[in-house]
Amino acid sequence: MVVAQRYRSCSRFTRHYVRAKLARDPVHRDILALAAEEKFGRVVDVGCGRGQLSVALLQAGLADAALGLDCNVDRLVEAARAGAGLNFATRAQDFVVDPSIPEADTVLLVDVLYQLAPAAQAALLDSAAHAATSRILIRTLDPERGARSWITRGVERLFRRVLPNSGALVQPQPVAWLREVLEERGFAVAVVPCWRGTVLANVLLVARRSGMVGSS
Ligand SMILES: C[S@@+](CC[C@H](N)C(=O)[O-])C[C@H]1O[C@@H](n2cnc3c(N)ncnc32)[C@H](O)[C@@H]1O
Repeated sequence: MVVAQRYRSCSRFTRHYVRAKLARDPVHRDILALAAEEKFGRVVDVGCGRGQLSVALLQAGLADAALGLDCNVDRLVEAARAGAGLNFATRAQDFVVDPSIPEADTVLLVDVLYQLAPAAQAALLDSAAHAATSRILIRTLDPERGARSWITRGVERLFRRVLPNSGALVQPQPVAWLREVLEERGFAVAVVPCWRGTVLANVLLVARRSGMVGSS
């Protein structure tokens, strides 16, 4: 089944949103391509939203199990509906109140860190580093990419106005800081653009536990 079809019984907005995300946001292709090189095993999808990335990984056989965490219960209900029949679970959690993350081979943080205040980002990143036995993938807005960064902040703020549930803040931290935190905790980190075909400033941090085969 095509991943978007799994959302056919969800709201009209979600059906369009998921279809557009899967078709246009390069993060899905980029992360699925990485998983094709090295299977992701047990995944925790932190701030999973409607869960389309975890659902795509499971459906492609590139992950064994996935747990989606998010504070937005409506999105989790739709994610669970789309993931029916796959090894997919969801759990409601507010990372500001509880930044803990269960152990997993792979921890995904896609477009969520910059929605938190800096202290909450630090706590969640620390949890991710403790939880991930193999790798952490972070997609974030790089605040130091000139015009791209201004445009991306503007788009994020506009989304917040139109969709109040989109996240309370837009506070991207320097990529150098994210990298330093992960390196201090034993990860080798590569940073690659994740904005293909857009004017956005999104980058992907690929953090692997040092010593893993294929680490860079
Ligand atoms: C931009 S969406 C990204 C969703 C998903 N990762 C994706 O790529 O489609 C950010 C997600 O983070 C969640 N989020 C923001 N702040 C949160 C918090 N304090 N606790 C838990 N989830 C949060 C939002 O509910 C939202 O679903």
